[in-house]
Amino acid sequence: MTEFDARIVSAENINVEELIRDTALRPKTLEEYIGQKSVTNNLSIFIEAAKNRGDSLDHVLFYGPPGLGKTTLAGIIANELGVDLRITSGPAIERAGDLAALLTNLNEGDVLFIDEIHRLNRSAEEILYSAMEDYEIDMIIGKGPSAKAYRIPLAKFTLIGATTRAGSLSAPLRDRFGIINKFEMYTKDELAEIIRRSAHLLNIPIEPDSLLELAGRSRGTPRVANRLLKRVRDFSQVKGEGRIDMAITDEALTALGIDKDGLEGLDRDILRLIIDRFGGGPVGIDTIAAAIGEERVTIEDVYEPFLMQSGFLHRTQKGRVVSDAAYRHLGLSAPERGVAQLAFLGDAEEVEEEQERPER
Ligand code: ADE
Repeated sequence: MTEFDARIVSAENINVEELIRDTALRPKTLEEYIGQKSVTNNLSIFIEAAKNRGDSLDHVLFYGPPGLGKTTLAGIIANELGVDLRITSGPAIERAGDLAALLTNLNEGDVLFIDEIHRLNRSAEEILYSAMEDYEIDMIIGKGPSAKAYRIPLAKFTLIGATTRAGSLSAPLRDRFGIINKFEMYTKDELAEIIRRSAHLLNIPIEPDSLLELAGRSRGTPRVANRLLKRVRDFSQVKGEGRIDMAITDEALTALGIDKDGLEGLDRDILRLIIDRFGGGPVGIDTIAAAIGEERVTIEDVYEPFLMQSGFLHRTQKGRVVSDAAYRHLGLSAPERGVAQLAFLGDAEEVEEEQERPER
């Protein structure tokens, strides 16, 4: 099999089109991968050590906001190990038997990537425990008095799980990962480097100041950066001469509703809602979700990480609170806050909320 020809086994919840379309842009080696250095530096050692021992790599858990390159890195790990990669996702595995079929088809050393692993149902998750720990699964085949239990040995494989919410993983599952890595948002310079690489691969001429402008408006996320690059290219082809410069970059991003700090419409809607209807907060996440008409998980996983990273929103024990910078960003003057309120904000900032386990 060629290096990154992931065989997509069961891909209900994976955007297959995006996966295939973006294959050209995905780096294939650790060397090519930009950013997340604390993750990749350690991984390169674990990969080399496993290879030297002729052993499989220990199970790996990646967590962090979407679009930061978790799937890409799983592909790179399989490639560096010289093994096959199989990709699936938590919601795509409906029955324990689906997962058993996947596991029994793995060869020695293969990598199984499960995206959104926090959404695995309980019976599938329980199969994973013995698969990860003892490389075997117990299956009951048949029903009633004729049902028989079988123990099926598996090849020594590596599970790579990815999740946007580490807190939603059960402790028994989390404890079976030997390598746990958090993905951070990318810096502007790292994103500029990723955009430079993508523009080169896609043959898009782009000026250095446009690289930085795009990078600064990409929400710290390579997936967003690559998508915006393609949209700005469309503008440059139709309205310019095919070369991306500052004027075209700004025109395109403004037309897409992306402001100078990279906020899009819904980001601003969330901030405005908290200011206009709740006096700047604190307000509960469910109230925000209902008022905006978005799922709570979407707000938590997609919008909030960037708003918090940018310093526009804080999570406190009493709910979400916007910062003075959010008022200024929206062209409003920040409210006079009393000493008690400021103390409250200072104390309660950036509470890590324990995310609930999903309903099963
Ligand atoms: N494309 C998406 N993520 C990337 C990364 N971290 N490095 C290089 N190219 C990428």
